[in-house]
Amino acid sequence: MNITNSVKYIGVNDHQVDLFEGQYVVENGMAYNSYLILDEKVAVTDTVDGNFLAQWFENLEHALEGRSPDYLIVHHMEPDHSAGIAAFAKKYPQAQIVASAKAFVMMKNFFGDDFADRRLVVGEGDTLSLGAHTLTFVTAPMVHWPEVVLSYEQSEKLLFSADAFGKFGALDVEEDWACEARRYYIGIVGKYGAQVQALLKKAAGLDIAKILPLHGPILEENLSYYIGLYDTWSSYRPEDEGVLIAYTSVYGNTKKAALMLAEMLKEAGCPKVAVADLARDDMAEAVEDAFRYSKLVLATTTYNGDVFPFMRTFIDHLTERNYQKRTVAFIENGSWAPVATKVMKGMLEKSKELTYAESTVKILSAVSEENISELKALANELVS
Ligand code: FEO
Repeated sequence: MNITNSVKYIGVNDHQVDLFEGQYVVENGMAYNSYLILDEKVAVTDTVDGNFLAQWFENLEHALEGRSPDYLIVHHMEPDHSAGIAAFAKKYPQAQIVASAKAFVMMKNFFGDDFADRRLVVGEGDTLSLGAHTLTFVTAPMVHWPEVVLSYEQSEKLLFSADAFGKFGALDVEEDWACEARRYYIGIVGKYGAQVQALLKKAAGLDIAKILPLHGPILEENLSYYIGLYDTWSSYRPEDEGVLIAYTSVYGNTKKAALMLAEMLKEAGCPKVAVADLARDDMAEAVEDAFRYSKLVLATTTYNGDVFPFMRTFIDHLTERNYQKRTVAFIENGSWAPVATKVMKGMLEKSKELTYAESTVKILSAVSEENISELKALANELVS
């Protein structure tokens, strides 16, 4: 696939992956993107996941049309992109490896070799001329590992963006970009909002025609839409006015309250209401929705003097990703000594700029008439 006359796509689609990065369900698979720049010098950018190296080498050989690579540019060392470095180095002994100093340390750890005799260490603002094409390197630490560099190709205004602007999903499946890009971003990069903000500031100084990420489609139209979403996500601002109700339920009583509240919110005119059963629904989707919407209701039972385990996991996912700038409400259930609200509030105490709803709902086993009044009050408060 030609991206421009000189840049070709040589990545692969993965429909075998069970859990991406060991935890994310990817119903539509995953793409590991890799690109080839053909100029006076020939540069390959990144490799792919270790299960797909044979296919990647086949794509590379086909795209090379008999030429041989001069450079392998390594933007990111996570194995979904770096697994082929040692095999590449062996197959093309004349090629130099181009990466950040930190990336070479990681290569030593992954492959037992830091390619000391054939490496080119690059940092912020360094350039690499390939002929008509010149790459300028932009450091992007913690987007999503510390060694990451992006590169900008000036003549065709291409940004090789590493994990930034990536998404779940293979490229041979049509799907909405934002939904799976948001779940990818919040899950994988969400903790590093400050670093993404720093990167966006650097990118604002570049005239970009196409973004070439390591996952997901190449972005080439309406770039301000994608960059705007990244700005929203990385600054932890809610993307949409709405409420996520995240619940766990042992015997269905807490679930009943959660679903009643969802209906009440819709009747009260709440623009968007999402509901997640944390024991059964995709955890990453629930985490994504918590960051997407402006308000969050946590509904759970007291369990072993704590909260139900899936709720603890969920809140941990939020706090480790710097959950902030939202309104949070609680529904607790406890048959003899309810402490769930206290525990949940305690888990969130270090989160910044949270507003707690004044209305609270305390269920003592089953939803009572009084609870229904409390739920109505909470719904009205959340839409006011
Ligand atoms: Fe796609 Fe951080 O690796």
